[in-house]
Order: sequence, then structure tokens, then C-alpha cells
Amino acid sequence: MIEILCALQDKEHTNLIFDLAEVSSIYCCESVAIWKANKMRLSYTEIFKYSDILNPISQTTLFSAGKLARLEPKKIVLDLGSGKGFPSLMWASIFGVRVEGFDMNKKYVGYANSRAKTLNLSHRVRFSAEDIRELRFNRKYDVVASLGLGVAQIYGDISNALEIFKTMLHKDGILVLAEPVWLVKPISSEVLKALGEAEDSFLTMSEMQQLMREAGLQALGHFVSSKEDWELYVRPVFIAMHEIIESESELAEQAQRIMSGFKAEYDAVGQYWDMVLWVLKAS
Ligand SMILES: C[S@@+](CC[C@H](N)C(=O)[O-])C[C@H]1O[C@@H](n2cnc3c(N)ncnc32)[C@H](O)[C@@H]1O
Repeated sequence: MIEILCALQDKEHTNLIFDLAEVSSIYCCESVAIWKANKMRLSYTEIFKYSDILNPISQTTLFSAGKLARLEPKKIVLDLGSGKGFPSLMWASIFGVRVEGFDMNKKYVGYANSRAKTLNLSHRVRFSAEDIRELRFNRKYDVVASLGLGVAQIYGDISNALEIFKTMLHKDGILVLAEPVWLVKPISSEVLKALGEAEDSFLTMSEMQQLMREAGLQALGHFVSSKEDWELYVRPVFIAMHEIIESESELAEQAQRIMSGFKAEYDAVGQYWDMVLWVLKAS
């Protein structure tokens, strides 16, 4: 899933969108190839230029999840992979919670903090640029949010991620977890290719719920993103990519590929995968 890998954009030699091998075959000097590839790379900041939330999760779902999680002013939320900060800022403004958000994308963090300032929420919400795998906390949180992180890639597998999240929570703390799930298995190689995913990136709904039970996490409820939620998510990306294509920039072909990737994600909804947000209580 393209957006789950947002963090990789900051890594110098990682390029998910532009095929370095292609470039190397054109330019004999590798350093020139890397320079050229980086220069020509469409960043996630450009892809999500017009997006505030980087997930197909609606405001209604965030609100309902916040109520189920019993968010209230004295509670502190840890937002892992906070992106541009939309979910946290919404919870801080509606429920009065305090939030510590972390994301490895410095531009997103800068944007999120400036938005907190615009919304007069800087005293309650703070975003920092960090790789969450390297964070060590000396306190526990009331709520941990992991919205569209792709936890299997980050923590090795989903069980391990659930165990790590539990260590960050108070007893009876709440985990708000959103991840895609496969609707059928096995997934054909064509579908995996179109989505740019490996089958082991995600589990099925029942596999997820089994792991949650094994981790001692009690599901208080879950929300499946609708096709319209996905439309809200892909439309701003299409607008941004269309602008690049219309400007006849040298990035046009890349922009077209990105649109095809998002279209494949959208087409797969309800057929091969869904985005599910769980509200889970640690015991
Ligand atoms: C799909 S986006 C979701 C952003 C936000 N939660 C939202 O719902 O709008 C995933 C975010 O996780 C961040 N991320 C991925 N891996 C990370 C890591 N190891 N450390 C910190 N942030 C990471 C990415 O930079 C990206 O902003």
C-alpha cells in the first residue's frame, strides 16, 4: 500500500516510486543516477499535497472511535505515525485530550505543528520527528493510536506490534489500530502486484482478531471504511497528480503510475481488502 510506506521517502537511497534500476541503465555513473532519481522523485508531500488525512478513515469514524475510547481532557494519547496530524488534532479539539505524535517525515511534522498552532492547540498537541522503532518511553499512555502504519513492516509482525503497543499502555489503556485486512486468501499475484503488496503484509479479519485475543486485547468495537471513505482519500491524490500530468512535467509518467496504484487500491476495496479500525482495551 503506497501510503503506508510514506516514511521511506526520507531515506536517501530508497525510492519506491522511481525504479532505480531503470535509471542506472541509462546513466553509466551510479552517483549521477541516484542524484537524478532523487531529483525526479515525486515525494509523498507532493502526492498528498491536498490531503490532510493519509488514510481512508472518515471524520465520523474518528469521532465514533474517540467516543468508544472514552477520550476526555485528562487523557494522553500517543499517536504513532501521526502523519499530518489530522486524527490527533481532531481528537484534541473535540475531546480535549493531550497528544504526543511521532512521525519520521519532517515535513509532515512541521505541517502538523503549524496546524496545531493555527487551531490554538499547541498547548495540548505536540508532534516530533522520530523513527518510532527507536523511541523508548519512560511513561505509559491512556491511548495509543496506530492509524495505517503498516505495523507488520515496522515491527516484524502483527503479534509483535500488539505486544509492543501494550507495553506503552496503562492497564485498561486503549489501542486504536487501523490496518488493511485481506478479505480472501490466497491473493492472486496480479492483485498483489497491482496493490504493490506482499500477502504477508496483512492478515484477514479473523486472523487479526485471533491475534488480538491472544495478546489480551478486548475489542470494544470496529469500523470498516466504506467505498466513499476511500473515495475521499484517493480524490485529493488524483487532483494533485492530474496537475502534474497537465503541467507536462517530466514527472508526468510517474504521476500516472501513482494514480494507477491508488485506483487499484480503490478497486480492491470490498473485493480483496478493507481498511478496518479497531478500538481495543488492554487488560
Ligand atoms: C498512512 S500514513 C498515516 C498518517 C496518519 N496516521 C493519518 O492517519 O493521517 C503512515 C505514517 O506513518 C509514518 N511512519 C511510517 N513508518 C514510520 C516509522 N518507522 N517511524 C515514524 N513514522 C513512521 C509515515 O511517515 C506516515 O506519515
